[in-house]
Amino acid sequence: MLGTLDRDRYRVIPIGITRDGAFVLEDDDPGKFGLDPAHLPEVVDNGTRIVWPDSTRSRELRVRDAAGERSLGDVDVVFPILHGRFGEDGTVQGFLELLDLPYVGAGLLMSAIGMDKHTTKSILKAAGVPVVPWVTVTRSALERDGELWRRRIRSLGLPAFVKPARAGSSVGVSKVDDWADLDAALDVAFAEDGTVLVEQAVVGREVECGVLEGRDGGAPRVSVAGEIVISGRDFYDFDAKYLGADGIELVCPAELGDGELAEMQRIAARAFEAVGGQGLARVDFFYTGTEFFVNEVNTMPGFTPISMFPKCWIASGMSYDDLLTELIELARAR
Ligand SMILES: Nc1ncnc2c1ncn2[C@@H]1O[C@H](COP(=O)(O)OP(=O)(O)O)[C@@H](O)[C@H]1O
Ligand SMILES: [Mg+2]
Repeated sequence: MLGTLDRDRYRVIPIGITRDGAFVLEDDDPGKFGLDPAHLPEVVDNGTRIVWPDSTRSRELRVRDAAGERSLGDVDVVFPILHGRFGEDGTVQGFLELLDLPYVGAGLLMSAIGMDKHTTKSILKAAGVPVVPWVTVTRSALERDGELWRRRIRSLGLPAFVKPARAGSSVGVSKVDDWADLDAALDVAFAEDGTVLVEQAVVGREVECGVLEGRDGGAPRVSVAGEIVISGRDFYDFDAKYLGADGIELVCPAELGDGELAEMQRIAARAFEAVGGQGLARVDFFYTGTEFFVNEVNTMPGFTPISMFPKCWIASGMSYDDLLTELIELARAR
C-alpha cells in the first residue's frame, strides 16, 4: 500500500508501532514490510518517537530522536492499517478521537463490535441478518457449570467450530468432528480469549464482499463477490491466510448467478449498516447453495494489492489507487 499511494497527491508519514507500544517514525520504504513467509516483518525500535499533537487545537505531528525534536507537518488523515487487538478493536480509534484527528475506517464502537464475534453475531441476528447458530461461553462459566455448558454446546451438533471471541487470522480456531476433542479445542481457543464461541459447521462455500460507506449520506456500496476456494485443507487457517500455504485460492469474481449476487450484496449492506456503517468492511459469508450466513464483519480487512478486499473492488471497476483515495476522502468528509 505504501508503494501505491499517489505521492503527487499525498505526503505520507509512515509510523510503526513496536511490540512495546512505541510509535516510531519509519522510512518511507514500501519493500520493508512485505509479507515474506520466511521472514515476517516486524517494527523495531529505531530510537525515534512520534509526538502526537498536544491538544485538539493542533494537528502538528512531531518526531523526537537523539538529535532533538522536529516537526513532521500537519496531519490531515490517519490511516490505521492495523490488525487485531489495539489496532482494529477501537482502542487506536479512541486514541485518535481524543486527539480529534480524522482517520480512515470504522469508529470506536463499530471497530469494537467487529472485533468481537459474539457481539457482532448478536447485533446481526437482532437486525435480521442470517448467522450460523452458536453458543458463547466464558471460561469462568464453563468452570462453574461445565455439564450445563457442554450440553448446550453439544446441542449444536457435529461438526462444530470452536473459536475465540476476539482474535482473528484463524488463531485459536479449530474444527471439532468428535465431542471427545471438544475440551482440547476449548483450551486452544481460551488461550486467546476468555470468551469462546462454538458454532455449527457450515458445509458450503466461503464468499466475501467489500463494502464502502456511501458518499454524502448515500447507501453503502458493495463490491462483487470473491471466493476462498479451499482444496485439500480443513479450513482457511493462519498458514493459508498469510504464509501462502497450498490448497487455497482467492477467486474474484466468484461464480454466482445474478440473483445470488444481488441477495448477497443486499445482506452485506444490511450487515454493514447494522454494525455502524462507517468506512469500509469486508463482509464474510458461508453460502450453502440455498442460504447465505454472515460469518464476520472485518472493519480493517487485509489490504495488500492481492488481498480479497481490494481484489473485489478492482473486479468491480475501482482501481487500487482509486480505492485508497476514496477511503481517505471518506475520512476527510466525515
Ligand atoms: N461455522 C463454520 N463453518 C465452517 N467453517 C468455519 C466456521 N467457522 C469458521 N470456519 C472456518 O475457519 C476460518 C476462520 O474462522 P473465522 O470465524 O473466520 O475467524 P477469523 O476471525 O480468525 O478469520 C473460516 O475462514 C472458515 O474457513
Ligand atoms: Mg475470518
